[in-house]
Amino acid sequence: MRIRLSRNQIELLTPAKVNLFLEVLGRREDGFHELETIMSSVSLFDTLRFKPRADSEIVLRNKPSATQRGGSMEIPLDESNLIYHAIDKIRARLNTSNGMDVWVTKRIPVRAGLGGASSNAAGALVAANHLYKGKLGLNELRAIASELGSDVPFFLTGGMAKCTGRGEHVTSVHSKSGISMVLAKPPVGLSTAKVFGRCRPANCPTQSNGLVKELSRGKLSLFGKLIFNRLEEAASEMTEWIDRLKSTFTRLNCVSHQMSGSGSTYFGIFSNRVSALRAANCLSNQHSDASIFTCETLSCFLPAFLSFEAAEKRSTT
Ligand code: C5P
Repeated sequence: MRIRLSRNQIELLTPAKVNLFLEVLGRREDGFHELETIMSSVSLFDTLRFKPRADSEIVLRNKPSATQRGGSMEIPLDESNLIYHAIDKIRARLNTSNGMDVWVTKRIPVRAGLGGASSNAAGALVAANHLYKGKLGLNELRAIASELGSDVPFFLTGGMAKCTGRGEHVTSVHSKSGISMVLAKPPVGLSTAKVFGRCRPANCPTQSNGLVKELSRGKLSLFGKLIFNRLEEAASEMTEWIDRLKSTFTRLNCVSHQMSGSGSTYFGIFSNRVSALRAANCLSNQHSDASIFTCETLSCFLPAFLSFEAAEKRSTT
């Protein structure tokens, strides 16, 4: 999350994520699945601007970016948006009824396995906590985040992390940032619930330990054998795009490739930015109806409320 503060407004860049590893350990009694996943935030961002209102309304507006062709990406602007719920939960926690104006510039594709809505929700928690002058700490924000969605706690700190439980228990993984990637989002999206519903949990679970070790050593060359996504098989039964993209990535000069989260985005890891840009060009030519993005993995940031304090100190000195 990147932050720009002015007197009574906050602008945040909320990042997408990819799953370098995702094993489904079993189905739980609450209907969710027990997971072991390694996620990394990447440099594809939505922009959110927050400004408190004098009344009690929460008003979300779409703000197309200057570079978006063909208008803005469609997202719900009503109470079904997680941003709305995040602000409302902070209001309830702080016992305030103040409203908020929110402007959303959406670049992260939806139903894509990139966590865009969860990242927006984490940003909204941080912004509302600050603008309503709450002093909720990271652990309190994490507890509220996990009520909003399984991936939301991860986005409070981002970087590279191992997530367990439903995905809400987050432990940072030591890794270098700046790993080059290309993301390919086909024109069809997938429902997370439907992909999980179709997935068969592992009889003999794949382990993430090897990948964690190589991430800390920074050895990209061994990633090929270690990245994994149990949901890929279920997703490829639901759309032929997964196999189509897999076959294109196999012919590109990439270190490794797989689907992200519950899809439908497929991504490749590249040894440098130049090969990533070259591959992105090939993918755009071959799949003109897919959205192609080049990006890099991001490092973990300070808990957002501490970043605010640091940013405020800088702006007042
Ligand atoms: O937690 P979140 O709201 O993002 O999950 C969306 C849906 O994905 C859930 O309703 C559930 O069907 C499925 N899911 C799951 N196990 C998880 C995470 C999500 O079955 N660990």
